[in-house]
Parts: sequence; C-alpha cells; structure tokens
Amino acid sequence: MSGEPFKLVPLDARHDRATFNSDSEPLNRYLQQQVTQDIRRRVAACFVALAGPSRIAGYYTLASASLLLADLPDSTRKKLPRYPTVPAVRMGRLAVDQAYQGQGLGGALLADALDRAARAEIAAYALLVDAKDDAAAAFYRHHGFIALPDSPLTLFLPLATIQLTRIAANSSGADH
Ligand SMILES: CC(C)(COP(=O)(O)OP(=O)(O)OC[C@H]1O[C@@H](n2cnc3c(N)ncnc32)[C@H](O)[C@@H]1OP(=O)(O)O)[C@@H](O)C(=O)NCCC(=O)NCCS
Repeated sequence: MSGEPFKLVPLDARHDRATFNSDSEPLNRYLQQQVTQDIRRRVAACFVALAGPSRIAGYYTLASASLLLADLPDSTRKKLPRYPTVPAVRMGRLAVDQAYQGQGLGGALLADALDRAARAEIAAYALLVDAKDDAAAAFYRHHGFIALPDSPLTLFLPLATIQLTRIAANSSGADH
C-alpha cells in the first residue's frame, strides 16, 4: 500500500459516509442510507478504513450467520460434526472507494475481517461472503475462499487456519 497507512476502526458518526464512491451504487447507497440503522438494530457491525480523520476509503460489514452442513463440499463436511448447521460470520458487504482501489486495501479489509472473526470469543467455523458477481467471487477465490458447490457466489474460509497462524505468531513473539 502506498502513502499514509489506513486506520481500520468501527464506523462512527464523525466519518463522512456521503462522499464514499465505489463502483457499486448499491454498496454506496447502503453505507450512505442503511448501515446506521442496521448497526442500531444489531443486525450488522461496520468497520471502515480511514484515509484521514473522516474520509472513508473502504468498508465492510459483519454479522453472525449459519451454514447448512448439506451445502458444504463433501471434503469439508467429512471433517465436521453431524449437526444440521455450523456457525459462521457473514461479511455481507465489502467495498473500496474508486480512488483507493488496486492498492491492497480490499485485501487488508478482508484480512481485518478474518482476524476479527477468528479472535471473537463466540465460536464460528468460517467467514462467509456473498459475492455480488463473478468478478467479486474471483477476488475471494484469489484469497483462498471456497465456493459452495451449488451456489458459487457464496464462499467461505474456515477460521481455524487463521487462528493457528495467530497462535504460531504469538508464541514466536513470546520466544524472543
Ligand atoms: C473487489 C474490491 C473490494 C477489491 O479491492 P481492491 O482494494 O481494489 O483490491 P486489492 O488491491 O486489495 O487486491 C488484492 C488482491 O486481489 C486481487 N484482485 C482484485 N480484484 C480481483 C478480482 N476481481 N479477481 C481476482 N483477483 C482480484 C488483486 O490482484 C490483488 O492480488 P495480489 O494481492 O496477489 O497482488 C474492490 O474492487 C471493490 O470495492 N469493488 C466494488 C465492490 C465489490 O465488488 N465488492 C466485493 C464484494 S460484493
């Protein structure tokens, strides 16, 4: 990423939502008109990347969700207990302002979402994403997400791998 680093923080009232401009009108509108209501009703949490004190360069939302065991690929299902569903965290929306695309910010927001989901005390098996189209699905596959066999725009990434990476990083930090 070039220039000043972005600050990744929960959305708050001081942030300027009105000027946010990604390629996706529905994702712009959601941030401008809907997200504060969803936060108030506790149906979504929203995190933003700030470029400056109030300029939103990108955002994503998280909420709890569940995955039907029957929807998962066979190879994944075999490793899980036979409950009808497994808990998940859904990243319902992710968008980067056009001025900041192609600089690694989308990847950084995704990493931040994975880290928050893996750190949460309430267990979730995977981070689940709803890609808005094939290009978005390709972005998630590029980052290791796996598509549901019957629904290729819904993808997931198991969180256990993220947790193991963090545990390894923490213990190597403690050693030195
Ligand atoms: C998709 C989006 C979030 C990507 O953000 P970005 O900041 O431009 O992406 P980054 O610069 O972080 O790209 C990170 C990596 O993903 C890759 N990538 C980006 N878009 C990709 C795509 N459509 N398909 C495959 N790989 C892609 C980049 O090449 C880069 O790879 P590298 O790390 O190996 O160099 C952004 O383009 C966007 O907001 N689009 C409109 C809304 C949208 O599609 N949201 C998706 C969720 S519905």
